[in-house]
Amino acid sequence: MKTIRMGVLGCGPRGMQMARITTLIPEYFTLTAVSDPDEKKLADAESGLPGVALFRSSDELLDSGLVDAVITEIPPAIHTEYVVKSLERGIHVLGEIPAVDSIEEGNYLWEKVNASKAMYMAGANPNYREKTRFLMDLERQGKIGKVAYIETEYMHYMVGSDDTWRKTYESCRYCTHSLGPVLKLIKSPFRTVSCMSTYDRIGNGNTHNAMSSLMRAENGIVVRFLTGFAVPYHGYPHTTKIYAEKGIIELYNQKARYWLPPDIDPGLEGHKFEEIPLTPEGTSRPADLKIIDEDLFFKAHCGHNGSDNFMMMDFADAILNNKPSPIGIKEALEMTLPGIYAAESAREGGALKEIKYPWD
Ligand SMILES: NC(=O)c1ccc[n+]([C@@H]2O[C@H](COP(=O)([O-])OP(=O)(O)OC[C@H]3O[C@@H](n4cnc5c(N)ncnc54)[C@H](O)[C@@H]3O)[C@@H](O)[C@H]2O)c1
Repeated sequence: MKTIRMGVLGCGPRGMQMARITTLIPEYFTLTAVSDPDEKKLADAESGLPGVALFRSSDELLDSGLVDAVITEIPPAIHTEYVVKSLERGIHVLGEIPAVDSIEEGNYLWEKVNASKAMYMAGANPNYREKTRFLMDLERQGKIGKVAYIETEYMHYMVGSDDTWRKTYESCRYCTHSLGPVLKLIKSPFRTVSCMSTYDRIGNGNTHNAMSSLMRAENGIVVRFLTGFAVPYHGYPHTTKIYAEKGIIELYNQKARYWLPPDIDPGLEGHKFEEIPLTPEGTSRPADLKIIDEDLFFKAHCGHNGSDNFMMMDFADAILNNKPSPIGIKEALEMTLPGIYAAESAREGGALKEIKYPWD
Protein backbone atom coordinates (compact mmCIF):
# COMPACT_ATOMS: atom_id res chain seq x y z
CA MET A 1 0.00 0.00 0.00
CA LYS A 2 1.71 3.23 -1.10
CA THR A 3 -0.78 5.68 0.31
CA ILE A 4 -3.95 4.98 2.26
CA ARG A 5 -7.23 5.33 0.35
CA MET A 6 -9.26 7.30 2.85
CA GLY A 7 -13.01 7.69 3.27
CA VAL A 8 -14.84 10.15 5.52
CA LEU A 9 -18.25 9.18 6.91
CA GLY A 10 -20.29 12.34 7.58
CA CYS A 11 -19.92 15.69 5.79
CA GLY A 12 -20.83 18.02 8.65
CA PRO A 13 -18.32 20.68 9.73
CA ARG A 14 -16.02 18.16 11.37
CA GLY A 15 -16.18 15.70 8.46
CA MET A 16 -15.29 18.43 5.96
CA GLN A 17 -12.47 19.61 8.18
CA MET A 18 -10.98 16.14 8.41
CA ALA A 19 -11.51 15.50 4.69
CA ARG A 20 -9.50 18.64 3.88
CA ILE A 21 -6.81 17.73 6.38
CA THR A 22 -6.49 14.35 4.66
CA THR A 23 -5.77 16.15 1.37
CA LEU A 24 -3.05 18.20 3.09
CA ILE A 25 -0.88 15.12 3.70
CA PRO A 26 -0.82 13.36 0.29
CA GLU A 27 2.33 11.44 1.18
CA TYR A 28 0.07 9.37 3.48
CA PHE A 29 -3.49 9.65 2.16
CA THR A 30 -5.56 9.79 -1.00
CA LEU A 31 -9.08 10.95 -0.19
CA THR A 32 -11.28 8.69 -2.30
CA ALA A 33 -14.82 8.81 -0.87
CA VAL A 34 -17.18 10.64 1.48
CA SER A 35 -20.75 9.88 2.60
CA ASP A 36 -23.72 11.71 4.06
CA PRO A 37 -27.48 11.04 3.76
CA ASP A 38 -28.08 14.81 3.68
CA GLU A 39 -28.24 15.98 0.02
CA LYS A 40 -27.16 19.53 0.82
CA LYS A 41 -24.10 18.35 2.78
CA LEU A 42 -23.18 16.03 -0.07
CA ALA A 43 -23.54 18.84 -2.65
CA ASP A 44 -21.26 21.07 -0.56
CA ALA A 45 -18.76 18.23 -0.31
CA GLU A 46 -18.86 17.75 -4.08
CA SER A 47 -17.91 21.36 -4.77
CA GLY A 48 -15.24 21.42 -2.04
CA LEU A 49 -13.67 18.06 -2.84
CA PRO A 50 -13.64 17.55 -6.63
CA GLY A 51 -12.95 14.02 -7.88
CA VAL A 52 -13.97 12.31 -4.65
CA ALA A 53 -16.71 9.63 -4.84
CA LEU A 54 -19.92 10.63 -3.04
CA PHE A 55 -22.27 8.23 -1.27
CA ARG A 56 -25.65 8.83 0.36
CA SER A 57 -25.14 5.65 2.34
CA SER A 58 -22.09 4.90 4.51
CA ASP A 59 -22.81 1.18 4.10
CA GLU A 60 -22.42 1.56 0.33
CA LEU A 61 -19.20 3.50 0.81
CA LEU A 62 -17.81 0.72 3.01
CA ASP A 63 -18.79 -1.90 0.40
CA SER A 64 -17.44 0.10 -2.55
CA GLY A 65 -13.88 -1.26 -2.42
CA LEU A 66 -12.65 2.35 -2.64
CA VAL A 67 -11.26 2.72 0.87
CA ASP A 68 -8.54 1.17 3.05
CA ALA A 69 -9.47 3.32 6.05
CA VAL A 70 -12.24 5.64 7.23
CA ILE A 71 -12.96 8.22 9.88
CA THR A 72 -16.38 8.40 11.56
CA GLU A 73 -17.53 12.04 11.55
CA ILE A 74 -21.12 11.13 12.29
CA PRO A 75 -23.35 11.70 15.34
CA PRO A 76 -22.02 10.10 18.58
CA ALA A 77 -25.01 7.74 18.81
CA ILE A 78 -23.81 5.85 15.69
CA HIS A 79 -20.00 6.01 16.12
CA THR A 80 -19.84 2.42 17.41
CA GLU A 81 -22.15 1.02 14.73
CA TYR A 82 -19.94 2.34 11.92
CA VAL A 83 -16.65 1.56 13.61
CA VAL A 84 -17.78 -2.07 13.86
CA LYS A 85 -19.13 -2.16 10.28
CA SER A 86 -15.75 -0.88 9.06
CA LEU A 87 -13.68 -3.34 11.07
CA GLU A 88 -15.87 -6.25 9.94
CA ARG A 89 -14.97 -5.35 6.36
CA GLY A 90 -11.24 -5.22 7.18
CA ILE A 91 -11.23 -1.42 6.93
CA HIS A 92 -9.02 0.47 9.41
CA VAL A 93 -10.91 3.09 11.34
CA LEU A 94 -10.17 6.32 13.14
CA GLY A 95 -13.16 6.44 15.48
CA GLU A 96 -14.35 9.89 16.53
CA ILE A 97 -14.61 10.65 20.23
CA PRO A 98 -16.51 10.02 22.47
CA ALA A 99 -15.68 6.42 21.53
CA VAL A 100 -19.01 4.93 22.66
CA ASP A 101 -22.44 6.18 23.72
CA SER A 102 -23.28 3.68 26.48
CA ILE A 103 -21.70 1.16 28.85
CA GLU A 104 -23.10 -1.72 26.76
CA GLU A 105 -21.53 -0.26 23.62
CA GLY A 106 -18.22 -0.14 25.50
CA ASN A 107 -18.35 -3.91 26.11
CA TYR A 108 -19.41 -4.57 22.51
CA LEU A 109 -16.70 -2.38 20.96
CA TRP A 110 -14.02 -3.85 23.21
CA GLU A 111 -14.86 -7.36 21.89
CA LYS A 112 -15.14 -6.30 18.27
CA VAL A 113 -11.88 -4.35 18.20
CA ASN A 114 -9.98 -7.16 19.89
CA ALA A 115 -11.32 -9.68 17.37
CA SER A 116 -10.47 -7.53 14.36
CA LYS A 117 -7.43 -7.70 12.12
CA ALA A 118 -8.04 -4.14 10.95
CA MET A 119 -6.85 -1.34 13.22
CA TYR A 120 -8.99 0.82 15.48
CA MET A 121 -7.60 4.12 16.68
CA ALA A 122 -9.51 6.64 18.80
CA GLY A 123 -9.56 10.06 17.14
CA ALA A 124 -8.46 11.76 20.35
CA ASN A 125 -6.88 14.86 18.85
CA PRO A 126 -6.41 16.65 22.22
CA ASN A 127 -3.73 14.07 23.00
CA TYR A 128 -1.80 15.52 20.05
CA ARG A 129 -2.08 19.15 21.07
CA GLU A 130 1.08 21.05 21.99
CA LYS A 131 -0.18 21.44 25.56
CA THR A 132 -0.17 17.65 26.01
CA ARG A 133 3.34 17.31 24.61
CA PHE A 134 4.47 20.15 26.89
CA LEU A 135 2.94 18.42 29.92
CA MET A 136 4.66 15.13 29.12
CA ASP A 137 7.98 16.96 28.61
CA LEU A 138 7.66 18.54 32.06
CA GLU A 139 6.97 15.12 33.52
CA ARG A 140 9.99 13.58 31.76
CA GLN A 141 12.17 16.39 33.13
CA GLY A 142 11.01 15.48 36.64
CA LYS A 143 9.35 18.87 37.18
CA ILE A 144 5.94 17.66 38.29
CA GLY A 145 6.49 15.05 40.98
CA LYS A 146 3.48 13.38 42.53
CA VAL A 147 0.13 14.74 41.38
CA ALA A 148 -2.43 15.41 44.12
CA TYR A 149 -5.41 17.02 42.43
CA ILE A 150 -6.52 18.22 38.98
CA GLU A 151 -9.25 20.52 37.72
CA THR A 152 -10.20 20.24 34.05
CA GLU A 153 -12.94 22.09 32.22
CA TYR A 154 -14.63 22.29 28.86
CA MET A 155 -16.78 25.42 28.82
CA HIS A 156 -18.30 26.44 25.50
CA TYR A 157 -21.37 28.65 25.32
CA MET A 158 -23.37 27.16 22.43
CA VAL A 159 -26.88 28.55 23.02
CA GLY A 160 -28.20 29.86 19.69
CA SER A 161 -25.62 27.95 17.60
CA ASP A 162 -26.59 25.65 14.71
CA ASP A 163 -25.77 22.55 16.60
CA THR A 164 -28.89 21.27 18.22
CA TRP A 165 -27.56 18.05 19.76
CA ARG A 166 -26.14 19.94 22.75
CA LYS A 167 -29.59 21.22 23.85
CA THR A 168 -30.38 18.02 25.68
CA TYR A 169 -26.95 16.36 25.73
CA GLU A 170 -25.50 15.52 29.13
CA SER A 171 -22.35 17.56 28.71
CA CYS A 172 -20.35 15.40 31.15
CA ARG A 173 -20.42 12.73 28.44
CA TYR A 174 -18.26 14.97 26.25
CA CYS A 175 -15.30 14.20 28.47
CA THR A 176 -12.62 12.86 26.15
CA HIS A 177 -11.10 16.26 25.32
CA SER A 178 -10.47 16.88 29.01
CA LEU A 179 -9.77 13.37 30.31
CA GLY A 180 -7.54 12.17 27.42
CA PRO A 181 -4.56 14.43 28.26
CA VAL A 182 -5.17 14.02 32.04
CA LEU A 183 -5.02 10.22 31.71
CA LYS A 184 -1.73 10.46 29.81
CA LEU A 185 -0.28 12.16 32.87
CA ILE A 186 -1.85 10.20 35.72
CA LYS A 187 -1.64 6.76 34.01
CA SER A 188 -4.39 5.35 36.19
CA PRO A 189 -8.04 4.73 35.22
CA PHE A 190 -10.90 6.50 36.97
CA ARG A 191 -12.70 4.23 39.41
CA THR A 192 -15.43 6.32 41.07
CA VAL A 193 -17.46 9.36 40.05
CA SER A 194 -20.14 11.61 41.44
CA CYS A 195 -21.71 14.21 39.16
CA MET A 196 -24.32 16.91 39.63
CA SER A 197 -26.19 18.90 37.02
CA THR A 198 -27.34 22.49 37.43
CA TYR A 199 -30.29 21.59 35.17
CA ASP A 200 -31.74 24.68 33.49
CA ARG A 201 -31.28 27.30 36.21
CA ILE A 202 -30.99 30.10 33.67
CA GLY A 203 -34.06 29.17 31.69
CA ASN A 204 -32.50 29.10 28.23
CA GLY A 205 -34.22 25.89 27.17
CA ASN A 206 -31.23 23.60 27.56
CA THR A 207 -31.58 20.57 29.81
CA HIS A 208 -28.26 21.25 31.57
CA ASN A 209 -26.55 24.62 31.93
CA ALA A 210 -23.45 22.93 33.37
CA MET A 211 -22.42 19.61 34.94
CA SER A 212 -19.72 19.12 37.54
CA SER A 213 -18.11 15.75 38.27
CA LEU A 214 -15.70 14.61 40.93
CA MET A 215 -13.71 11.53 39.97
CA ARG A 216 -11.14 9.42 41.77
CA ALA A 217 -8.53 7.45 39.87
CA GLU A 218 -7.32 4.01 40.91
CA ASN A 219 -4.08 5.55 42.25
CA GLY A 220 -6.05 8.01 44.43
CA ILE A 221 -5.74 11.20 42.36
CA VAL A 222 -8.90 13.32 42.53
CA VAL A 223 -10.09 15.19 39.42
CA ARG A 224 -12.86 17.77 39.21
CA PHE A 225 -14.30 17.90 35.70
CA LEU A 226 -16.66 20.69 34.64
CA THR A 227 -18.56 21.01 31.37
CA GLY A 228 -21.05 23.66 30.32
CA PHE A 229 -22.53 24.32 26.89
CA ALA A 230 -25.43 26.45 28.11
CA VAL A 231 -24.07 28.95 30.59
CA PRO A 232 -22.66 32.32 29.44
CA TYR A 233 -18.89 31.94 29.44
CA HIS A 234 -15.92 34.02 28.42
CA GLY A 235 -12.39 32.65 28.31
CA TYR A 236 -10.52 29.63 27.06
CA PRO A 237 -12.85 26.68 26.44
CA HIS A 238 -10.39 23.96 27.47
CA THR A 239 -8.45 24.45 30.70
CA THR A 240 -6.60 22.10 33.03
CA LYS A 241 -4.96 22.96 36.33
CA ILE A 242 -2.64 20.44 37.93
CA TYR A 243 -1.69 20.67 41.61
CA ALA A 244 1.42 18.59 42.15
CA GLU A 245 4.21 17.99 44.58
CA LYS A 246 6.59 20.33 42.73
CA GLY A 247 4.27 23.12 41.66
CA ILE A 248 1.22 24.18 39.67
CA ILE A 249 0.75 23.66 35.95
CA GLU A 250 -2.03 25.35 33.98
CA LEU A 251 -2.81 24.26 30.45
CA TYR A 252 -4.83 26.05 27.78
CA ASN A 253 -4.92 25.14 24.12
CA GLN A 254 -2.94 28.23 23.17
CA LYS A 255 -0.54 28.47 26.09
CA ALA A 256 0.62 26.96 29.34
CA ARG A 257 1.89 28.50 32.52
CA TYR A 258 3.60 26.93 35.45
CA TRP A 259 4.87 27.83 38.86
CA LEU A 260 7.61 25.91 40.55
CA PRO A 261 8.89 26.92 43.98
CA PRO A 262 12.37 28.55 43.79
CA ASP A 263 14.06 25.62 45.51
CA ILE A 264 12.99 23.44 42.57
CA ASP A 265 13.81 25.82 39.74
CA PRO A 266 16.19 28.54 40.98
CA GLY A 267 16.01 30.22 37.56
CA LEU A 268 12.44 31.28 38.23
CA GLU A 269 11.20 34.04 40.44
CA GLY A 270 9.34 32.26 43.21
CA HIS A 271 6.07 34.12 43.01
CA LYS A 272 5.63 34.38 39.26
CA PHE A 273 4.03 32.00 36.83
CA GLU A 274 6.18 31.19 33.80
CA GLU A 275 4.13 31.76 30.63
CA ILE A 276 4.74 29.36 27.71
CA PRO A 277 3.13 30.25 24.34
CA LEU A 278 2.22 27.07 22.48
CA THR A 279 1.34 28.52 19.07
CA PRO A 280 3.29 31.02 16.99
CA GLU A 281 1.84 34.49 16.91
CA GLY A 282 -0.75 35.16 14.21
CA THR A 283 -1.31 31.49 13.46
CA SER A 284 -2.86 28.64 15.27
CA ARG A 285 -0.45 25.82 14.65
CA PRO A 286 2.85 24.53 15.96
CA ALA A 287 5.87 26.09 14.21
CA ASP A 288 7.23 22.81 12.90
CA LEU A 289 4.04 21.67 11.19
CA LYS A 290 4.68 21.07 7.51
CA ILE A 291 2.29 23.10 5.40
CA ILE A 292 1.57 21.89 1.90
CA ASP A 293 -1.02 24.43 0.95
CA GLU A 294 -1.28 27.35 3.34
CA ASP A 295 -4.61 28.52 1.92
CA LEU A 296 -6.20 25.08 2.16
CA PHE A 297 -4.82 24.69 5.65
CA PHE A 298 -6.53 27.84 6.90
CA LYS A 299 -9.76 26.83 5.18
CA ALA A 300 -9.56 23.68 7.28
CA HIS A 301 -9.71 25.94 10.34
CA CYS A 302 -6.16 24.98 11.21
CA GLY A 303 -7.15 21.58 12.52
CA HIS A 304 -7.09 22.36 16.24
CA ASN A 305 -3.59 23.83 16.40
CA GLY A 306 -2.26 21.20 14.02
CA SER A 307 -3.24 18.35 16.33
CA ASP A 308 -5.58 16.84 13.73
CA ASN A 309 -2.71 16.65 11.25
CA PHE A 310 -0.36 15.01 13.73
CA MET A 311 -3.07 12.54 14.72
CA MET A 312 -3.73 11.62 11.07
CA MET A 313 -0.02 11.14 10.43
CA ASP A 314 0.27 8.78 13.41
CA PHE A 315 -2.80 6.86 12.21
CA ALA A 316 -1.20 6.47 8.77
CA ASP A 317 2.20 5.53 10.16
CA ALA A 318 0.65 2.72 12.24
CA ILE A 319 -1.24 1.32 9.22
CA LEU A 320 1.61 1.61 6.73
CA ASN A 321 4.25 0.21 9.09
CA ASN A 322 2.16 -2.40 10.94
CA LYS A 323 2.53 -0.69 14.29
CA PRO A 324 0.08 -1.02 17.20
CA SER A 325 -2.75 1.47 17.34
CA PRO A 326 -1.41 4.78 18.71
CA ILE A 327 -4.59 5.24 20.80
CA GLY A 328 -6.21 1.84 21.17
CA ILE A 329 -9.57 0.68 22.47
CA LYS A 330 -8.41 0.51 26.12
CA GLU A 331 -7.35 4.15 26.15
CA ALA A 332 -10.50 5.09 24.20
CA LEU A 333 -12.77 3.51 26.82
CA GLU A 334 -10.75 4.85 29.75
CA MET A 335 -11.35 8.38 28.50
CA THR A 336 -15.01 7.83 27.46
CA LEU A 337 -16.72 5.60 30.06
CA PRO A 338 -16.19 7.91 33.09
CA GLY A 339 -18.43 10.51 31.41
CA ILE A 340 -21.17 7.93 30.84
CA TYR A 341 -21.04 6.86 34.51
CA ALA A 342 -21.04 10.57 35.47
CA ALA A 343 -24.28 11.08 33.55
CA GLU A 344 -25.79 8.10 35.35
CA SER A 345 -24.72 9.62 38.69
CA ALA A 346 -26.25 13.01 37.79
CA ARG A 347 -29.57 11.33 36.99
CA GLU A 348 -29.46 9.92 40.53
CA GLY A 349 -28.70 13.30 42.14
CA GLY A 350 -24.94 12.77 42.44
CA ALA A 351 -24.85 9.16 43.69
CA LEU A 352 -21.32 7.77 43.88
CA LYS A 353 -20.80 5.35 40.96
CA GLU A 354 -18.17 2.69 40.62
CA ILE A 355 -16.67 2.75 37.12
CA LYS A 356 -16.24 -0.65 35.49
CA TYR A 357 -14.35 -1.46 32.30
CA PRO A 358 -14.87 -4.44 29.98
CA TRP A 359 -11.49 -5.94 30.96
CA ASP A 360 -12.18 -5.86 34.74
N1 LIG B 1 -12.41 15.73 17.94
C1 LIG B 1 -12.86 16.95 17.77
O1 LIG B 1 -12.15 17.92 17.98
C2 LIG B 1 -14.27 17.16 17.32
C3 LIG B 1 -14.71 18.44 16.98
C4 LIG B 1 -16.03 18.58 16.53
C5 LIG B 1 -16.85 17.48 16.43
N2 LIG B 1 -16.41 16.24 16.78
C6 LIG B 1 -17.24 15.05 16.64
O2 LIG B 1 -17.39 14.81 15.25
C7 LIG B 1 -18.67 14.31 14.95
C8 LIG B 1 -19.34 15.15 13.88
O3 LIG B 1 -19.40 16.48 14.32
P1 LIG B 1 -20.15 17.60 13.47
O4 LIG B 1 -20.04 18.85 14.26
O5 LIG B 1 -19.67 17.58 12.05
O6 LIG B 1 -21.65 17.04 13.57
P2 LIG B 1 -22.94 17.32 12.65
O7 LIG B 1 -24.07 16.73 13.39
O8 LIG B 1 -22.98 18.76 12.25
O9 LIG B 1 -22.64 16.47 11.32
C9 LIG B 1 -22.76 15.08 11.27
C10 LIG B 1 -23.07 14.70 9.84
O10 LIG B 1 -23.21 13.28 9.78
C11 LIG B 1 -24.26 13.01 8.87
N3 LIG B 1 -24.72 11.64 9.08
C12 LIG B 1 -25.70 11.17 9.90
N4 LIG B 1 -25.78 9.82 9.79
C13 LIG B 1 -24.84 9.46 8.89
C14 LIG B 1 -24.42 8.22 8.35
N5 LIG B 1 -25.00 7.04 8.72
N6 LIG B 1 -23.43 8.20 7.44
C15 LIG B 1 -22.83 9.34 7.04
N7 LIG B 1 -23.19 10.55 7.51
C16 LIG B 1 -24.16 10.60 8.45
C17 LIG B 1 -25.29 14.09 9.14
O11 LIG B 1 -26.19 14.25 8.05
C18 LIG B 1 -24.40 15.30 9.31
O12 LIG B 1 -24.14 15.98 8.11
C19 LIG B 1 -19.42 14.29 16.27
O13 LIG B 1 -19.34 12.99 16.79
C20 LIG B 1 -18.65 15.20 17.17
O14 LIG B 1 -18.69 14.81 18.50
C21 LIG B 1 -15.11 16.07 17.21
